[in-house]
Amino acid sequence: MQSSELLPPDEIHLHITDDPAITDPDLLAKYEALLTAEERVRKDRFHFPRHRHQFLVARALLRTTLARYCPDVQPADWRFQANDYGRPYIAGAGAGLLDFNLSHTDGRIVLAVCRSPSPGVDIERTNPPDGFLDIADRFFAANEVSALNTLPAAEQESRFFALWTMKEAYIKARGMGLSIPLQDFAITFGPAGPSIHFGDGGADDPRRWQLFMLEGGEEYALAVALPDAAPVRPRLFRTTPFLAVEPI
Ligand SMILES: CC(C)(COP(=O)(O)OP(=O)(O)OC[C@H]1O[C@@H](n2cnc3c(N)ncnc32)[C@H](O)[C@@H]1OP(=O)(O)O)[C@@H](O)C(=O)NCCC(=O)NCCS
Repeated sequence: MQSSELLPPDEIHLHITDDPAITDPDLLAKYEALLTAEERVRKDRFHFPRHRHQFLVARALLRTTLARYCPDVQPADWRFQANDYGRPYIAGAGAGLLDFNLSHTDGRIVLAVCRSPSPGVDIERTNPPDGFLDIADRFFAANEVSALNTLPAAEQESRFFALWTMKEAYIKARGMGLSIPLQDFAITFGPAGPSIHFGDGGADDPRRWQLFMLEGGEEYALAVALPDAAPVRPRLFRTTPFLAVEPI
């Protein structure tokens, strides 16, 4: 199959991996063999074994998935650089053909890949922090907070995580980290899905954004933002690097 058939320009693919489920030593040795010296150093900096493990699985997910879409570049041969805010991008072979963004949370990794530039993805485990309404009040835009507070109590937790992940996905798509103030844009949720709004004199155009709240699985919230006005369809896969890629 041609790589353009595997990843058409009007699709964004979300590859979901539950890293704690991957324990086969032979498979993990294959993942280790993909790491560059720099990635090995980064992995060893994590204090907790579960974080080292997640980092390793995320690198393998990224490298094997990109190679699946661009078979001319082997998994170990992909090279990455990061912008001034830490956003990684493909450098060298394969650059300009694909773009990606990674997100990880407790027990789960998501990789977004598409042909148009600068996708943003965020997954969060939906364990509400104590005082989550106060956190929203402090960090979210005023109309997001008032919409959250008028919801029935039973719906507030899921809206909090929808807002959190959607805002984070937008920030990640912009690639500038938290230098974009969280109060400077607002997400609303309607029957047609989420949409984004910018204040007066806002530095961005809502018409160029496609936003998706997706099924991240029980106890997870998953959001994707893509700065591309041409309609794109999200497709989800459950992926184990080197072993399986199954549509969900
Ligand atoms: C670093 C940041 C981009 C994402 O952090 P995060 O949500 O904790 O982490 P995620 O797991 O979703 O994303 C991390 C991945 O995003 C990528 N990334 C790093 N910097 C990035 C940037 N500036 N833009 C886009 N992606 C970035 C990397 O691939 C990173 O994984 P890696 O280090 O294993 O390669 C940044 O937005 C941040 O610090 N967020 C803090 C979280 C927060 O307070 N959010 C409030 C939301 S309402």
